[in-house]
Amino acid sequence: MRRLLLWMARNAWLRERIPRLPFVTRALHRFMPGEEVGAALREAVRFRDEGIKTLFTRLGENLVEIVEADAVAEHYLELLDQIHVQGIPGELSVKLTQLGFDLDETRTEEHMGRLVQRAACDGGTVWIDMEGSRYTDRTIALYERLKARHANVGLCLQAYLRRTAADVQRLLLVEPSIRLVKGAYDESATIAYRSRKAVDANYGAIAVALLEAIAAGRRVRIGLGTHDVMLINQIATRATTLALGRDAFEVQMLYGIRVDQQRRLAAEGYPVRDLIAYGPGWYAWYMRRLAERPANVLFALRQIVG
Ligand code: FDA
Repeated sequence: MRRLLLWMARNAWLRERIPRLPFVTRALHRFMPGEEVGAALREAVRFRDEGIKTLFTRLGENLVEIVEADAVAEHYLELLDQIHVQGIPGELSVKLTQLGFDLDETRTEEHMGRLVQRAACDGGTVWIDMEGSRYTDRTIALYERLKARHANVGLCLQAYLRRTAADVQRLLLVEPSIRLVKGAYDESATIAYRSRKAVDANYGAIAVALLEAIAAGRRVRIGLGTHDVMLINQIATRATTLALGRDAFEVQMLYGIRVDQQRRLAAEGYPVRDLIAYGPGWYAWYMRRLAERPANVLFALRQIVG
């Protein structure tokens, strides 16, 4: 089921047709408040009042024309203005392919530089999402170049990749901000752990390595991008044994998933950030969410039928 859904996420023919089906959008609201940025901002204000911060991401990836990337960058600059005006503790999470990474890497880096500079005015970070493995090397290289010039840029790394533990060790030298996730793409066993147990073990080991770096005095920001509460609890216990406070890491979860846990963690004093996605290009992203949990497919089907 997971592989089928991930194949559907990549299929251009389906990407064209499925979003046009009116009943599909009904099921979508489980994971995003709406296509318009206004809906995302309204939810962010609600979260702010509950002590939960926000990450904003405009959906859409793998552009065809570079002018589309310019428009996305402009959109994000305007969003940063809105975040400032409305006093929202919000940061951005962006895909490099949405900023033209497939078409013009120099332009992508320039766009990132502008976003990071603008975000710095409010002390915010711009996070770079990690996409499929064909982008990993180039994404990390771009991150390192940006990090050399700006403190407030973060990078997502995927625990299912066998290489990630070594990447983290190298990146520790630049005092990085790292969001650790399990990984959402269909990667081969030669480069990725495929069993849940192995991915979870690698996730835990990398998170502990990051905590140990903080305990050793390095300036590292950690985002635990997972809904796996058991894993978060284990990592929190390890942080305590290292004499680190609850602010040693931030928990980052997706809109609509384990919201009860987001509230509980925030109430217990852990920094929590909810990633709100919006925008018309939601198809591939939505299919990856379905692939993460078969029960979501049943939920989607119920919305479609009912
Ligand atoms: P896991 O899949 O083991 O789930 C743990 C529990 O959480 C499940 O038992 C279930 O209860 C709940 N859960 C998880 N996913 C759910 C879903 N879709 N619907 C309902 N319940 C669900 N990936 C990537 O490759 N690149 C990236 O840049 C990012 N960015 C990113 C940012 C943030 C803030 C998050 C939270 C996640 C990502 N991801 C990502 C996605 C990530 O790689 C992973 O696919 C999902 O987070 C699901 O894995 P979990 O860590 O939640 O664990």
